[in-house]
Amino acid sequence: MCGIVGYAGGRSALDVVVAGLKRLEYRGYDSAGVAVLSDGGLAAAKRAGKLRNLEKELTERPLPSGSTAIGHTRWATHGAPTDLNAHPHLDHAGRVAVVHNGIIENFAELRAELSLRGQAPVSETDSEVVAHLLAEAFSSCGELAEAMRQVSRRLTGAFTLVAVHADEPGVVVGARRNSPLVVGVGEGESFLASDVAAFIAHTRSAIELGQDQVVELRRDRITVTGFDGAPADVRPYHVDWDASAAEKGGYDYFMLKEIAEQPRAVADTLLGRIGTDGALTLDEVRIPVEELREASKVVVVACGTAFHAGLIAKYAIEHWARIPCEVETASEFRYRDPILDQRTLVVAISQSGETMDTLMALRHAREQGARVLAICNTNGSTIPRESDAVLYTHAGPEIAVASTKAFLTQLVACYLLALYLGQVRGTQWADEIRAVVRELSRISGAVERVLATMEPVRALARSLAGKNTVLFLGRHVGHPVALEGALKLKELAYMHAEGFAAGELKHGPIALIEEDLPVVVVVPSPCGRSVLHDKIVSNIQEIRARGARTIVIAEEGDEVVVPYADHLIRIPATPTLLQPLVATVPLQVFACELATARGNEVDQPRNLAKSVTVE
Ligand code: M6R
Repeated sequence: MCGIVGYAGGRSALDVVVAGLKRLEYRGYDSAGVAVLSDGGLAAAKRAGKLRNLEKELTERPLPSGSTAIGHTRWATHGAPTDLNAHPHLDHAGRVAVVHNGIIENFAELRAELSLRGQAPVSETDSEVVAHLLAEAFSSCGELAEAMRQVSRRLTGAFTLVAVHADEPGVVVGARRNSPLVVGVGEGESFLASDVAAFIAHTRSAIELGQDQVVELRRDRITVTGFDGAPADVRPYHVDWDASAAEKGGYDYFMLKEIAEQPRAVADTLLGRIGTDGALTLDEVRIPVEELREASKVVVVACGTAFHAGLIAKYAIEHWARIPCEVETASEFRYRDPILDQRTLVVAISQSGETMDTLMALRHAREQGARVLAICNTNGSTIPRESDAVLYTHAGPEIAVASTKAFLTQLVACYLLALYLGQVRGTQWADEIRAVVRELSRISGAVERVLATMEPVRALARSLAGKNTVLFLGRHVGHPVALEGALKLKELAYMHAEGFAAGELKHGPIALIEEDLPVVVVVPSPCGRSVLHDKIVSNIQEIRARGARTIVIAEEGDEVVVPYADHLIRIPATPTLLQPLVATVPLQVFACELATARGNEVDQPRNLAKSVTVE
């Protein structure tokens, strides 16, 4: 949460920073601000609300030009989203400006201390204390990077800080603990940002900053040290996607673009992981095969949509690898004192690789001796860096707050992992694995076919814009799909939406059914596990008998459901376990269209941020 940009170079720094903030607005959009160093002074502007409010302000009251600047787009934690609480925060003399992402847990104590010295902060934020502490430290050491190291050592919590000082023109300093910060290395220019998307238009050469490190950025020099001042090893890497991947590409919303990218994302995630003989080669899984063989259980930790991917992973892991698998929301995990040991394989799923709840869960697991494997979409992010192994999804950058293509690729990665565990543990024969892999290879085309038939789903969504509630039902892997459909609708359309295991309905929730209530039912394939199919057909009849308007998602050729479907959404036939890869897609389109029909901002739903870096 919160997007941060810093720049030192030869261009108009404000233009670079504002363009970078546009790319990071998905991280928070409660307020935005910039500060620029110019002619020995520092000028700043900030506005509550979306970035466009700041841009208007900069047009009406331009700041002086300069070649060193910082910027921030906020997701509020401490203090309401007002002009005053917006970043950057300045010291009382207006010489230092700082932007912050994260939470400074000991801010109250620091605030009290500053007040005693007559330096009381004026905003309600936890961040402003840093501006005053930096100003004090700078006045005694005369160097911003050293001031940042001294201040960082005093802070507890999670923070990325980026600052400039009027007495050190051409220098931007950043610090990182438990919160993302990457460096962009250009020709005669340098960048700092929460995410490479902010500078990908200028350079694809990046450096990961490690935990508890401070970076000093000049246009032609980048110096990284620990908080203790010791020189740090830097790990440069090449970003393997370009600026066009972070653009809307002709779509009205990033979410629409990302939904459309799913066939490619699914195919890319399979790429290079299947040998010519059909066996799996998950090179990145660097946990020794003997340990995977000996593992006594798998525990999946994740949040939101990634948690739903984990729920589906459980079915695949238990079925193919015959190893017990628990799935838990990461935010709850460490508080219940879970039973973990060296034989536990913990799988942490995260698109961003920065979700604090998931990060804390994996740290807890490692402290207990468990092995951690990350499934992640963001190269170089904290979760894969702190894991024993990583399986990257290749969805490309996901900008819309609502996760779509990342979910599908997380599923692919989970299936690959489950099959791989089956392969190394000998619970699957090579030809069985080859058969599933063949089916997986066909999924990209199946998703494409689903996308080509979505117009009736969009029309249906528009017709339901006036409804207050939509329920979602599923059985087996259809249950997590129902949960995901409900989550998408809640976060985008702000409607009451709930997902249930269809069999659970009769134990209470069926009381919610009333005349014309839309209920989406995810129907499993009639082939393979016909008992599942039969049961859900009965469930559809039960709710229809009570007045529900049934919206049935069923595979092509399933004629049994036809008499009970008020609306029928067809999906290609797929093996039961893989069905979520196609069944989820109409639900994404449905939520996106319903949100649009209700006049909501699809890419930036209220109160949310893409990357949740606070607990
Ligand atoms: O980056 P992560 O995958 O760790 O994010 C987890 C959740 O915050 C995320 O999936 C969230 O639920 C999405 N906005 C849902 O669309």
